[in-house]
Amino acid sequence: MPMPQKTVWGQGRLLIGADFNFRVEGYTDARLRAAVGRLRGRIALQTGLPLLADATGPLQLVVSCRGAGPKNPTLGEDESYALDVSTSGARLSAPTVTGALRGMATFAQLVSADGKSYSAPAVHIEDRPRFPWRGLMLDCGRHWMPVDVVERNLEAMAAVKLNVFHWHLTEDQGFRVESKRFPRLQEKGSDGQYYTQDDIRRVVAFARDRGIRVVPEFDMPGHATSWFAGYPELASAPGPYGVERSFGIFPPAMDPSSERVYSFLDKFFGEMAGLFPDRYVHIGGDEVLETQWKANPKIQAFSAAHGIKDSRGLQAYFNKRVQELLARRGKKVMGWAEIQDPGLPRDTVLQSWRGQDSLADSVKKGFLGVLSFDYYLNYGKPASFHYRNDPLSGAAAELDAGEKARVIGGEACMWTEFVSAQTVDSRIWPRAAAIAERLWSPAGVTDEDSMYARLDAVSRGLDWTGVRHRSYERPALDRLARAPAREALQVLADALEVDRIDLLRAQHFTTRSPRNRLLDAIPPESPALRRLEASVRALSSARPSPEDAAGVRRTLVAWRDNDARLAPALRDNFLLAEDAPLSANLSKAGALGLEALDFIEEGQAPPAGWRDRSGAELAELDKPYAEMTLGAARVARLLVERAARP
Ligand code: ACM
Repeated sequence: MPMPQKTVWGQGRLLIGADFNFRVEGYTDARLRAAVGRLRGRIALQTGLPLLADATGPLQLVVSCRGAGPKNPTLGEDESYALDVSTSGARLSAPTVTGALRGMATFAQLVSADGKSYSAPAVHIEDRPRFPWRGLMLDCGRHWMPVDVVERNLEAMAAVKLNVFHWHLTEDQGFRVESKRFPRLQEKGSDGQYYTQDDIRRVVAFARDRGIRVVPEFDMPGHATSWFAGYPELASAPGPYGVERSFGIFPPAMDPSSERVYSFLDKFFGEMAGLFPDRYVHIGGDEVLETQWKANPKIQAFSAAHGIKDSRGLQAYFNKRVQELLARRGKKVMGWAEIQDPGLPRDTVLQSWRGQDSLADSVKKGFLGVLSFDYYLNYGKPASFHYRNDPLSGAAAELDAGEKARVIGGEACMWTEFVSAQTVDSRIWPRAAAIAERLWSPAGVTDEDSMYARLDAVSRGLDWTGVRHRSYERPALDRLARAPAREALQVLADALEVDRIDLLRAQHFTTRSPRNRLLDAIPPESPALRRLEASVRALSSARPSPEDAAGVRRTLVAWRDNDARLAPALRDNFLLAEDAPLSANLSKAGALGLEALDFIEEGQAPPAGWRDRSGAELAELDKPYAEMTLGAARVARLLVERAARP
């Protein structure tokens, strides 16, 4: 995962033993050698084999690279590779180092245990991406994400061939980059939580080594309160300002009529241009409120003098000025779809987030488009939801070939209102891997059962990259409950899902809210529930297996009996008390599911009115509590529907 463009399976397997070795042939450089070293380390981790650098066994992977490619990862660079694995060895060939990196990520996924040994299957793969822009945006403004969190997520991105790290560095709640020219930005705007310039250089180099571009975002003219904490003169109203603690859309905005603002930004971008080698700089531009502009007579007079009709026109003027000063530094502009304006150059990248229509509109007007609408990981939707969302579907399906070519990809977005550095991995992974496949693999790769089967494997594999998306849950639940309630808490946790609607309404959270509730411990999508749903669907198939029925029954019994074990612990626990209704409802879902399963297994029609009564009860069980929903209710509903069918 992502599924390659072309895969031809061969006969037999290549054994990976302790003396398996790795060799570079043809072009080589420090980046390639480091990558081969990391691959050896990764496979050593996956297998437990030592795989020492001086191994000289007969079986090996030869990495044959024809040239360096661009010095820094670059939009549109050649990422192709071919990989041949046979029983006698493996050969990876690529025109560029980046292509070799992608092929090595594939090889790492091919290595597995088959009961007797570690091996990789014989295969011929030819591969290249469908879209050149395959990103992950991480909001480090609302919640601080230390360098090690960023690095481990970059490592995981590389494992699934994502190639753009969109680093959301400034927000109302935090200014996260050190500026030596304007030190009050981080001094007043970050609570001491910011990346030093050395940190930035280190992350950019770390990403480059893995074939990942770093596109920094400096959100302006709105979402910019943290700038004003140290430099209130940039704002459109006098202040004073301090960083925001709550979440939402706030009135402070940069003053588009002020030459001081442009002079400041010019120097600031001059400094940042030295840190971020990518051609693109993201200038945000989303959700700008006109409150301060309307209330400021100087700004209104400026508009009148320049023939600017409204606030949209003011933002277009601001964007144009910022684009021009970035162009003088050799930089192109990316922004949220709101910045679209005929005054901007056509190589501006517009990021569509409020609907797919804006993507089609952007490319029709000649701009480059990146889709993020329905790739918002913070909504807690299932991987399948994101997987179905193709950049060239919806309005974009009607585009002509030239317009389609300007849809250059997509980005998964991880906004962090309700996510901390501890919980963020489990919000990104493994679901971002499904988006990575949508953006890399051919459009026809859409089978969701196959996706989930491979996602489970990739999720386990991602453990070796250092992301803690799976390992976080255990200590987080340990923190909430001790034995004997701990086990019952796991049963409840496995039956829950994050409720996106309630999260959006969760205005009571601030940047100071602890992230230590059951909501924070569970993954957004429960793998246990998904497996159970598959078993329930198998019950309805032509030849249901008795093991499935027995497994479903065991789980339903565990649900039914769980509240009796868990309820006392919930009552006495300040972190868990809010989950009591979910626990009670899980028992009801278990009881209801068992009733349905009895009807199914006995081949008996339920009595009149049973289905309606059950439906009413299920509607109650569906209600969210503590920003979570009982996914178990969905499984109970499946069983009820199956039992009620003649
Ligand atoms: C956004 O979600 N405000 C881009």
